[in-house]
Amino acid sequence: MKYALVTGGTKGIGKAISQALLERNYFVILNYANDDDSANETYIELNKQYSDQLRIIKEDLSQPENIAIFCNKVKEITKSIEVLVLNAGKTDRSSFGETDYNTWLSVFETNLFAPYFIIQELNSIMPWDSSIIVTGSVMGIYPHSMSISYGVSKAAVHAMVKNLVKFLSPFGIRINAIAPGFIETEWQKNKPDEIKKNIERKISLSRFGTPEEIAEAVIFLIHNKYINGEILKVDGAYSFM
Ligand SMILES: NC(=O)c1ccc[n+]([C@@H]2O[C@H](COP(=O)([O-])OP(=O)(O)OC[C@H]3O[C@@H](n4cnc5c(N)ncnc54)[C@H](OP(=O)(O)O)[C@@H]3O)[C@@H](O)[C@H]2O)c1
Repeated sequence: MKYALVTGGTKGIGKAISQALLERNYFVILNYANDDDSANETYIELNKQYSDQLRIIKEDLSQPENIAIFCNKVKEITKSIEVLVLNAGKTDRSSFGETDYNTWLSVFETNLFAPYFIIQELNSIMPWDSSIIVTGSVMGIYPHSMSISYGVSKAAVHAMVKNLVKFLSPFGIRINAIAPGFIETEWQKNKPDEIKKNIERKISLSRFGTPEEIAEAVIFLIHNKYINGEILKVDGAYSFM
């Protein structure tokens, strides 16, 4: 059986990716940081259909000291990872003038530092023909007036993906990013309707995407062996209107 690891795999986009991998017979290791209730619910739900095919590791990946602990726990479960999905992410919705240093740092630690150092720890157990997918964002492509730390960190994620190609390709490991647009997850649920409508007006397909639509794109990147160093936008053509 092939192994996949999905950080932030208990909710939203990560949960949909985990489910898509389970359906394709991967053994999936999911990770989360805080919300035990959701993690338990997800475990019970997925385990009903895919028993003995998944494990969940609780580890807050925004803390540098947790990265090695987390990777060691992964290595206790498997000595080979074919698919590594670095999806856990954090935002900060403060404006330019309000942003404080530690929050900026924490956004970068979660979105950028954690994926980089997890790849550094785990690439040695990824066999030839394996695949890394990092969740970026259209906020890392188009400038916005809010969530600046988030957008800049996601732009850096896209740059990291491109920069790592030359180190990973000699080992048969491809690395790509997905840049989702606005996707119906907990992140978006608390946005006031007026703001959601404003966003929908800027999306050519006039709606938010679903986590499953992102998961399908991740599966495509895993299967297509000639895509490497790509930032794949899945955003319903955001900003074309
Ligand atoms: N939703 C969107 O519109 C959208 C758009 C573009 C990009 N994205 C990106 O997609 C990814 C997933 O977002 P989502 O909307 O699916 O979010 P979500 O529904 O809130 O799920 C986030 C998941 O990440 C985990 N997580 C958060 N911080 C973590 C940390 N420090 N260490 C380990 N796990 C952590 C959460 O665990 P806990 O619940 O335990 O905290 C949860 O499992 C993020 O990278 C986000 O930037 C989302």
